Amino acid sequence: MAMPAQVRIVEVGPRDGLQNEKTIVATADKIELINRLSRTGLTSIEATSFVSPKWVPQLADAGQVFAGIDRRAGISYPVLVPNARGYERARAAGATEVAVFTAASEAFSQKNINASIDESIERFTPVLESARQDGVRVRGYVSTVLGCPYQGAVPVADVVRVARRLHALGCYEISLGDTIGIGTPHKARAMLLAVADEVPMAALAVHFHDTYGQALANVLACLEEGVGVVDAAVSGVGGCPYAKGASGNVATEDVVYMLDGLGVRTGVDIDVLADTGRWLASLLGRESGSKVGRAMAAA
Ligand code: HMG
Ligand code: MG
Repeated sequence: MAMPAQVRIVEVGPRDGLQNEKTIVATADKIELINRLSRTGLTSIEATSFVSPKWVPQLADAGQVFAGIDRRAGISYPVLVPNARGYERARAAGATEVAVFTAASEAFSQKNINASIDESIERFTPVLESARQDGVRVRGYVSTVLGCPYQGAVPVADVVRVARRLHALGCYEISLGDTIGIGTPHKARAMLLAVADEVPMAALAVHFHDTYGQALANVLACLEEGVGVVDAAVSGVGGCPYAKGASGNVATEDVVYMLDGLGVRTGVDIDVLADTGRWLASLLGRESGSKVGRAMAAA
């Protein structure tokens, strides 16, 4: 399949990025981050996560964050929910799109959500039922698609099975997550193509972490197979507190720069995005995790 002419980027920095920060970020700063991202041309910004605050204290203020942002027309602001309780909290805060998440590895599922894959899907069933009634769109994540920090290798057949179940349950899009950034391009491509045999490519997204420096190469390999949705985090923030050794997501600036160079439309203004990335890096007190962001600052 050919590279798509247009790619939708799902910005996950405010959620995947901040969930992994040790120091609590002020609610007002989280809101400002999302408001800044809303001015970049991005059309999907994952805002926060309505998980247990005991498990992810950083995002305990999810309700205040969601209620505090300026939601712009034409942008969707999905939020993570692990169960019906999370869905109710998300709806009470005003969310109109949610994301459920499970894994291709049993060991990771237990560590991350204290449930087997089957149990996690049982928890999602009432979420999807309510969402259908409420007209709320549901995205689904499959983690550890190219390897697990606890189990090691993850058979592609397991990824395919879980992706197919989430799609059959009613998730409009399935994001395939290389949680620990261990994959390489040919493996990423083979995994994507195997899933695309069972779930339409138009309903798939890729989610790469850059732990081993492979994320951008993996994104390109998957784009060449026709995937049209890429998850990324501004300034390359990100990681999962329950995935030992996981580091940042592929940086949104790096993805947009590459796509601009390839002539693929994203609708994102790289200058405004890079400014946002620099603002976030200085807020977090470290260098940007985006090479493009650093190069643009130096130029
Ligand atoms: P549990 O401890 O097994 O279940 O947690 P529980 O029902 O006993 O809940 C524990 C406490 O949390 C209880 O409070 C519940 O009421 C409360 P207590 O009675 O002790 O006072 N609780 C909640 N509170 C607020 N909102 C809720 C909620 N649910 C329960 N929704 C649970 C099970 C799933 C809740 C927990 O394991 C959890 O929240 N896990 C989330 C972990 C997480 O957020 N991980 C990172 C996101 S996934 C990721 O990063 C990967 C991804 O980026 C893709 C990739 O890279 O691969 C998506
Ligand atoms: Mg992630």
